[in-house]
Amino acid sequence: MSATIYAVINQKGGVGKTTETINLARVASNDLRRTLVIDADAQGSLTGILAADEVAADQLSFADILVGEDIADVEVQGIWPSLTVIPGNQNTNKATKQLHTEHGREYRLREAVEKVRADYDLILIDCAPSLDLHTVNALTAADRAIVMTQPGKFSLDGLSQLQQSFDSVQKYYNPLLTVAGIVVNGVRNTIGHRNWVRDLEESTPWPMIGPYVPMRSLIQDAQEAAYGLDQWTVEAKLARETYELYARHYGALEKIDLLRHLELAFPKHDFSSTEGL
Ligand SMILES: Nc1ncnc2c1ncn2[C@@H]1O[C@H](COP(=O)(O)OP(=O)(O)OP(=O)(O)O)[C@@H](O)[C@H]1O
Ligand SMILES: [Mg+2]
Repeated sequence: MSATIYAVINQKGGVGKTTETINLARVASNDLRRTLVIDADAQGSLTGILAADEVAADQLSFADILVGEDIADVEVQGIWPSLTVIPGNQNTNKATKQLHTEHGREYRLREAVEKVRADYDLILIDCAPSLDLHTVNALTAADRAIVMTQPGKFSLDGLSQLQQSFDSVQKYYNPLLTVAGIVVNGVRNTIGHRNWVRDLEESTPWPMIGPYVPMRSLIQDAQEAAYGLDQWTVEAKLARETYELYARHYGALEKIDLLRHLELAFPKHDFSSTEGL
């Protein structure tokens, strides 16, 4: 079966798009899924973590795909088994300028990705904090969007702005696009955060993807070290619980035998009494 394509979006910076993408990719890799991760953000932070080798500044990247390069000529090997990465880098100016004068500019990623869709089980697009043409390309290529949010960083006004962009991409370029759900990241156990999450749940038309991700420094630490949470032996118990949370997100999106998956990822742990598996 060919891959479902997910775009991880929010026009706000630092809400956890890249973190969610990396952790979903880790679960997919442990599940032996052939996974393509596309770094649609010129900041290249995902590339810096998931590309097996350093990506040179003049190397082909995501933006070049939008002006006609094939994915096969741009892709690089990822750090985990069955993981391939389309790098994002700063050197996008020329390609981006060219794109703005071309016909069919919203469909370029879709065209390229459709050619390789059958080679993968899962395709994740990590979007930039913007609703620009690169993000429109991501949403036009995607089957489903994952909306990342973070209490405080994401006003409910921001959500309605995102919804308008989503609706217009759906109307003009991709009628089959749906929202897989909203992930709430960086939650703290405060009254403010609890109220914020409740307001979001009451006002959003989109499903929520649980569990919510707490603010935990090990998420950042493991990510910066390019380790999967299942490989993170510092605070191992908390890392396992956090991995399990991302495995549940994955399970809300894709078919997975969660119990078996976790037993293989953590052979020494007894999951038999874990709820809801
Ligand atoms: N739940 C969390 N707990 C602790 N740190 C987190 C959590 N989620 C994300 N972070 C950290 O916060 C920083 C921003 O997260 P991330 O890069 O995923 O956001 P982003 O939405 O992709 O940002 P941008 O819009 O700039 O691409 C990163 O250093 C990441 O490791
Ligand atoms: Mg990011």
